[in-house]
Amino acid sequence: MILLRRRRGRLPGDRVRGGFRPWAPGDEAAEGRTTLLLLWVLATAATVLILDVVPGGLPGAGAGAEGGARRLLGTAGAIGAGHALVALYLARLHPEVLRSTRRLALAMLLGLGTLAAARLLEAAPPAPFRLVLHTPAVLATCVVAIAMGPRFAAESAALLLYDLAVAWRAPGIGAPGGVATDLEALAVLGAGCGVAVLGARRVRNRARLVKVGLAAGALAGLVHLALHPPAALPGGLADAGALLAHGLLLGFLVSGALPFIEALADVVTDISLLELSDQNHPLLRRLLLEAPGTYHHSVVVGSLAEAGAEAIGANALLARVGAYYHDVGKSMKPEYFTENEGKKGLRHGRLSPTLSTLVIKAHTKDGVVLAREYDLPQAIVDFIPQHHGTSVIEFFYQEAVSLEGDSSVPRDAFRHDGPKPQVKETAIMHLADSVEAASRSLSDPTPGRLRDLVHTIIWKKLGDGQLDECDLTFRELRRIEEAFVRVLVGVFHSRIRYPDARPGARAR
Ligand SMILES: [Fe+2]
Ligand SMILES: [Fe+2]
Repeated sequence: MILLRRRRGRLPGDRVRGGFRPWAPGDEAAEGRTTLLLLWVLATAATVLILDVVPGGLPGAGAGAEGGARRLLGTAGAIGAGHALVALYLARLHPEVLRSTRRLALAMLLGLGTLAAARLLEAAPPAPFRLVLHTPAVLATCVVAIAMGPRFAAESAALLLYDLAVAWRAPGIGAPGGVATDLEALAVLGAGCGVAVLGARRVRNRARLVKVGLAAGALAGLVHLALHPPAALPGGLADAGALLAHGLLLGFLVSGALPFIEALADVVTDISLLELSDQNHPLLRRLLLEAPGTYHHSVVVGSLAEAGAEAIGANALLARVGAYYHDVGKSMKPEYFTENEGKKGLRHGRLSPTLSTLVIKAHTKDGVVLAREYDLPQAIVDFIPQHHGTSVIEFFYQEAVSLEGDSSVPRDAFRHDGPKPQVKETAIMHLADSVEAASRSLSDPTPGRLRDLVHTIIWKKLGDGQLDECDLTFRELRRIEEAFVRVLVGVFHSRIRYPDARPGARAR
């Protein structure tokens, strides 16, 4: 079904591994093209302005300098072409980054800030002035990797190096050493940025950022030494030491600025996710005290979702933490949900199926309100409405049918409000939620029965279209299914009777 939808027409922003993704016709595509054109004009104009229009710095640069007009035209042409290539690349091969103008603006500002630093250093160069640029360039790459992922960080680092190559082109090189010095500096910056791209993903503690900074400085220093003329080795060693120290400094800088980066880019890092996974978080404590059954359900769903995400290489920590908070809305009216059923029984007895459906549906809205009250990041809030998608509340639908007859009960009136899962992690949690709830009702949970149950639920969800808006593939669904069965067999291990089990025999 997912594959059929893909063949019918992909949307801009669809995330499919590999392959060519053309712009789809329609409003969203037109909007994407306009954003891209605007970004291209803005980025090109700002870069040319920083590199060649503002007077000072490079000999030959500045509107009033001799040959300035020719140089300006050259800069505009080269920068415009480079930026157009990157814009086309993003549109065709990496369109999902265009969804967040906020993050794109942050990346653009960081790139322009690095170019402005380059220009300032040209005006008052320390020695060796181009190597000093390593700090802002790697810092910008680190922040972009955290905010937008390693792939976009690699693309923006490549664009930054291209812009610097245009700015440092001959003639007009003020640095001692000429063209060779510039190329060496580009290689050094490229090495540092490469380490930042690889290292600043899935950062689980702040110490890792310091290590990434240090590794970037170390590799940049080694590249500098390798390219340095042997005659000037003492100077080269001092530069390499400076690069290492700067790397360490930028590691501390990024680590300290992490909360601001998360707030600015509206992203959640693994560090924040680990903090949110603490079972002493006030919202989780509240869930434990007011709806202990839901709390326990959420923990098991978390284990299932984590295993499912791990099996396909999705963000397992995000899936687990999202699961912890997916049902927090139930803490408002815990007694209406089966997992919290006490001795008094459920409170639905006197309600009509339609009213009961309204109460059940309200837990996602209540959950979003609570999540905002407790300042949960958007990536976690998204799990709350998406964990039921637009699934039908089958129990009350069947009850209504038995009371009023099949023809007079519209099935859609018993659906949750959605939206359907939008990303792999929410989709996995959506499946884990249904699987956990259904597995509790199995009276004799043998591995075979658990396997059948998981398989049936996943295919039911597919058939109902709940996975239409995320980009899980059939192969990934198969892996998720296997991971769910593994976890469930572990959960029900003590209850599963093996063929050789005898009454009174010790549980293994
Ligand atoms: Fe729920
Ligand atoms: Fe749930």
